[in-house]
Amino acid sequence: MSISIKNLTYIYDQGSPFETMALEDVNLEIEKGEFVGLIGHTGSGKSTLIQHMNGLIKPTMGQIIVNGFNITEDKVKLSEIRKKVGLVFQYPEYQLFEETVYKDIAFGPTNLGLDKEEIDIRVRNAMDIVSLDFEEYKEKSPFELSGGQKRRAAIAGVLAMEPEVLILDEPTAGLDPRGRDEILSQIKRLHDEKKITVILVSHSMEDIAKLVDRIIVMHNGKIELTGPKEEVFKHSKRLEEIGLGLPQILYLVNALRAKGIPIDENVIAFDAIKSEILKLVGGKHA
Ligand SMILES: Nc1ncnc2c1ncn2[C@@H]1O[C@H](COP(=O)(O)OP(=O)(O)OP(=O)(O)O)[C@@H](O)[C@H]1O
Ligand SMILES: [Mg+2]
Repeated sequence: MSISIKNLTYIYDQGSPFETMALEDVNLEIEKGEFVGLIGHTGSGKSTLIQHMNGLIKPTMGQIIVNGFNITEDKVKLSEIRKKVGLVFQYPEYQLFEETVYKDIAFGPTNLGLDKEEIDIRVRNAMDIVSLDFEEYKEKSPFELSGGQKRRAAIAGVLAMEPEVLILDEPTAGLDPRGRDEILSQIKRLHDEKKITVILVSHSMEDIAKLVDRIIVMHNGKIELTGPKEEVFKHSKRLEEIGLGLPQILYLVNALRAKGIPIDENVIAFDAIKSEILKLVGGKHA
């Protein structure tokens, strides 16, 4: 399932004194099966952009084409789009509202009109993907869960819809490093195994660098840079100017190069960096 965004402009509170241009003439293509990282500092327009992708926000100007269908046209059924494009909001745990974890995760599939058996299979699968033990958690109230578990339950609720495109808006914000790594590796596994398209919104270059194939960098409502991560990281000056910077390991590589230690100029892939550094420090582990 591909998403194509053409000349998208979005203005909040248009015509009022609070008018804000959140997106300005954004053009973007996301192909089926890609794992894309969307990064940008606070207020750069990331959440506004992704909410257009499942029709939650209508463009002020421009078009959103999902699998060849222009979803900005009035006759398009948004419920059909939302089945296929799953969006996990920033701080989704605030949207858990059912009495039990089971009911919460079953909410979407129930609304799709699926039968009980199919719903049950989907809830179990979704909980399995996010590593929430079915027997242990199904009857718990979502409010009894820890922060990380709530986040996983919310993600499971979207996964139970079996979307073809999964959009996650800062899925690890506010979690401790362990919770963060667990959720990110679950997302990565889901992408690799199910071949679904994933769009991961993050402030963190570290997270993005580890996971995605392509990075989209936003700045002030516009796309500043886009390309394979290795290409994007070549623009370190510009990334720093817009408050982003590089993953830590690349600063190390740049510092080594500045000291005249030869690391191949094109070595920017993480495994390659690791083996280059290990070679330099003695070669034993390379
Ligand atoms: N509901 C709203 N009403 C008015 N202005 C808004 C609203 N939501 C966002 N904005 C403004 O639109 C711009 C883009 O905001 P958006 O939330 O899309 O950025 P973001 O990149 O997701 O930021 P963050 O990293 O903080 O989540 C900002 O200037 C923001 O203040
Ligand atoms: Mg946001």
